[in-house]
Amino acid sequence: MIKLGVLCSGRGSDLQSIIDAIKNKKLNAEIAVVLTDKPNVLALQRAENAGIKNICIDRKNFTGKNDFESAILKELKAAQVDLVILAGFMRILSANFVHEYENKIMNIHPALLPSFPGAHAHRDALNYGVKISGCTVHFVDEGTDSGPIIMQAAVEVKDDDTEESLENRVLEQEHIIYPKAIQLYVEGKLKIVGRKVLITD
Ligand code: GAR
Repeated sequence: MIKLGVLCSGRGSDLQSIIDAIKNKKLNAEIAVVLTDKPNVLALQRAENAGIKNICIDRKNFTGKNDFESAILKELKAAQVDLVILAGFMRILSANFVHEYENKIMNIHPALLPSFPGAHAHRDALNYGVKISGCTVHFVDEGTDSGPIIMQAAVEVKDDDTEESLENRVLEQEHIIYPKAIQLYVEGKLKIVGRKVLITD
């Protein structure tokens, strides 16, 4: 069984969608550990409620990024994690970290990449005036939100949308496509060819 290590920073609704997909037998994997970079966040509680090992590696306790990432890597290795899942983890991982799990880190971003990378995707999409936005699951490379795209889902942007209403509409799709993309990985169906991820049968 493939072991997932899920990294979160906050609310953990994407984490919850993965927990639920495993429970409902839509995703054939095990969450070996949930790690957060902040204390007292809902993601830790969600993991605890599901009986999943959860650890806060508080970024504030580390002076440098290297030491912080080493602490995360130590826990991922200790839990024998095969695939790292970024689920609302609001930090950029270093090239060193990415190389430790080459092509074995997935992220979900709340926009149709390469549009609106970064930390304020919904605000940026609304300010730009796009009519369609959505979400993207991708492998993580050394850049920011730049790795090969596995799956995307689109949603309509309405004239009276606020950041919150758009976020909620996009989250519904995130909770559908993230578990699906992970299951494709579990089934060995994802093949990276340059920038493309082919979904094989
Ligand atoms: C999600 O919308 C996710 O796509 C986004 O943070 C939210 C986390 O929600 N991730 C990023 O913006 C990464 N750059 P959650 O904590 O409820 O899962």
